[in-house]
Amino acid sequence: MTASQNVLDYQGNNTIFLVWLFKPQVEPKEAFMRVCALVENLNNSGQTRFPDSGATCVMAIGHDAWLRLGLPKPLPKELENFQPIVGAKHSAVATTGDLHFHIKGSGPAICLDMTAAITEVLSTVADCTEEVHGFRYWDGRSILGFVDGTENPHGKERVEFGLIGEEDAAYENGSYLFVQKYIHNLTAFKSLTVEEQERVFGRYKMSDIEMPDNIKPANSHIALANVGDDLKIIRDNMPFGNMATNEMGTYFIAYARTFSTVKKMLDNMFVGLPPGNYDRLLDFSTPQTGTLFFAPSATFISAVAAGDI
Ligand code: HEM
Repeated sequence: MTASQNVLDYQGNNTIFLVWLFKPQVEPKEAFMRVCALVENLNNSGQTRFPDSGATCVMAIGHDAWLRLGLPKPLPKELENFQPIVGAKHSAVATTGDLHFHIKGSGPAICLDMTAAITEVLSTVADCTEEVHGFRYWDGRSILGFVDGTENPHGKERVEFGLIGEEDAAYENGSYLFVQKYIHNLTAFKSLTVEEQERVFGRYKMSDIEMPDNIKPANSHIALANVGDDLKIIRDNMPFGNMATNEMGTYFIAYARTFSTVKKMLDNMFVGLPPGNYDRLLDFSTPQTGTLFFAPSATFISAVAAGDI
């Protein structure tokens, strides 16, 4: 029986997201094996040192890296390079990434130390192309001021929607990971009245309560992102902000049993349902990245570290 990585945990108060790209003309396998051993070590250590709050690190691998590292074939069924989604007004760009790390902890110090340890192992064979420091904003709100994560699956549903099962037995307890770094036009969003802001999301701002269907606009975020009760994903979004550069954003991150579910949500948001009825949230949010990874089971990562894969 395989064990999953900590993909079903609730997000910590502090997070660091890292994307790494292997350098050309290096042989990355040995460093990759060492980083697999390190990830195992960091998770064991996090559990021992911070048993209540947890400190975890989830590693995921991109399609091209999977091939370059000589990992098993056939690949996880839906692991591919994310293709851009082009709507009439807004597009979801596709960007490259070989390894993704999702580091979570109750404080920034442990997150920084885990990042430093990973960097020490990878820096000779790879470049870090993205580093985003996310933080919990008030009562779990996005930087736009609305609570983010409310309709996520809870309890047993997290397993059902977050982890691969028998349908791809070789990769059981793995998970597809999709990330996008969004920058918000906060000035434009804040210039809306609260009522107009609520119509962007389809939820009331203070109470975090969903609008009734007869009031909720068809182009609101939740009207388009909800693709049915049997198609859900685990979202672990985190806000980030930098006043000096005026970069205020959301690191969108989702774990899913099937990537096609995420794709369906993205199509609804960017192309629209029906086409043209796109997600109003995109008028205030622009993705700068978009990459699909695969987070294998913890058992798979141990096997790589031991040289068995
Ligand atoms: C600009 C980045 C985004 C922000 C700030 C954002 C924020 C939010 C907020 C505030 C909610 C309502 C509360 C909740 O249930 O979590 C929500 C719901 C949701 N979002 Fe997003 N979101 C973003 C991007 C995305 C993307 C890219 C997807 C899918 C690929 C997505 C999928 C969903 C889903 C499935 C729901 C729940 C809908 C429901 O069943 O009511 N979101 N989001």
